[in-house]
Amino acid sequence: MKFFIDTANLDEIKEAASLGILDGVTTNPSLMAKVGISGREQILEHYKKICEIVPGDVSAEVISTDFNGMIQEAEELASLAPNIVVKIPMIKEGLKAIKYLNEKGIKTNCTLIFSPGQALLAAKAGATYVSPFIGRLDDISTDGMQLIADIRLIFDNYGFPTEILAASIRHPMHIIESARIGADVVTTPLKPLLALLNHPLTDKGLAKFLEDYNKANR
Ligand code: G3P
Repeated sequence: MKFFIDTANLDEIKEAASLGILDGVTTNPSLMAKVGISGREQILEHYKKICEIVPGDVSAEVISTDFNGMIQEAEELASLAPNIVVKIPMIKEGLKAIKYLNEKGIKTNCTLIFSPGQALLAAKAGATYVSPFIGRLDDISTDGMQLIADIRLIFDNYGFPTEILAASIRHPMHIIESARIGADVVTTPLKPLLALLNHPLTDKGLAKFLEDYNKANR
């Protein structure tokens, strides 16, 4: 299972990378705006900085919604660094763009996936990744994990190489459940990732080991 971090914050990316378990980064226009990055030049420079920190796949999202605009943006983004993956929304024009980019050898991440049918179309078009948004489904009282399970079943039925990238992660159980189901990748904010580290019995056990060591080595 690959671990991506879902942020455009360079400090958070560096912290996750320092753990030694980070495989990539995902961003989106909202995450870029959150860290105050705006304007085409600044956005492209920021992607370059992220790609310098993380050698694995870095998803950079297009903002065009028409085929020609998406292709033009995708080619510009892909030229920034060899590890850029172009994030394309799951809309009709996006599907055509994914097909085109796949044939050109440009990796894509089909984003805003909320149904198994959308994932199937993206896989059929040759997307490298599909990003089902678990948390946003949970937010509207729909089981986000069931979507991951449905996509896993469908992709396995036909041997689609498209990787399932579980996104919109809100808490550590989303990561555990994604791993149980067999999502290929999880992209998470830093907090749920770090939460995986914690267990009170680990803290208690470590305190006891150190206490016993100190008693025996006075
Ligand atoms: O990777 C997609 C993710 O950024 C969406 O997360 O928390 O905005 O639903 P969220």
